[in-house]
Amino acid sequence: MLSINGLTKSFGTGSGKLHVLKGIDMNIKSGELVALMGPSGCGKSTLLNIIGGLMPADSGQIELVSRKYGLKNPSSVVDVRRNLVGWIFQDFHLLDHLSALDNVSMALEISGVPSKEAELRAVTALEKVNLGDRMHHIPDQLSGGQQQRVAIARAIAGHRPLLLADEPTGNLDISSGAEVLQLFKDLCHDEENPISILMVTHDPELASNADRMLLLNDGKTQASDIRSAWGLDDEGEEE
Ligand SMILES: Nc1ncnc2c1ncn2[C@@H]1O[C@H](COP(=O)(O)OP(=O)(O)OP(=O)(O)O)[C@@H](O)[C@H]1O
Ligand SMILES: [Mg+2]
Repeated sequence: MLSINGLTKSFGTGSGKLHVLKGIDMNIKSGELVALMGPSGCGKSTLLNIIGGLMPADSGQIELVSRKYGLKNPSSVVDVRRNLVGWIFQDFHLLDHLSALDNVSMALEISGVPSKEAELRAVTALEKVNLGDRMHHIPDQLSGGQQQRVAIARAIAGHRPLLLADEPTGNLDISSGAEVLQLFKDLCHDEENPISILMVTHDPELASNADRMLLLNDGKTQASDIRSAWGLDDEGEEE
């Protein structure tokens, strides 16, 4: 589904040049929930931005479904952002004055879906995240966990095969975070319409509940298990 080979990225020039990604090789299958961990500043968000078509890499290649990219400018990968990759952020990024339903349907309308169909798809997506009874609430009238579920509905309503989630539980309490993780698992493991999710998290407990964990360290990704993640997670405390 997603295949990344030899991806590198640096920032700056000359002696101040910072080599953030030094040859990333990774694959994600359809239906997989993969947790990406690593110390602050190691390049997790940079990697997501490149996969999401927001920033070009310096070298290497990404193949997502059958689309090949990685070095192209954001203006040349509009189709990746529109059709292939959905985003979920730590701070939800909802529009304050719009209901849950309008937040989801407006995002679809912006990407060209006619308004009647957008509304139908928004309702379906909100029901899928168990917010069928909260569709007409605005973000202020929803809990943090509910707001994040609206953002997840917005991401899945676009029917994109890959979701990128950058610390999606960072602003949630433990039980809401666990609910979001369970929802991610259900979405990935849906038998009729599986998707894949790459989720950045600093929480080893959540990461260990994903299908697989990757550790980004010194510019490269490696398979990880819970014990090495504990050792390297600079914000987690050993219990
Ligand atoms: N546009 C940019 N210009 C210059 N340096 C950048 C840019 N974006 C990121 N960096 C640097 O690249 C490194 C990786 O940043 P990135 O945001 O990817 O880290 P991260 O792993 O997501 O960290 P965190 O866990 O704190 O979110 C950091 O040292 C950062 O300062
Ligand atoms: Mg980050």
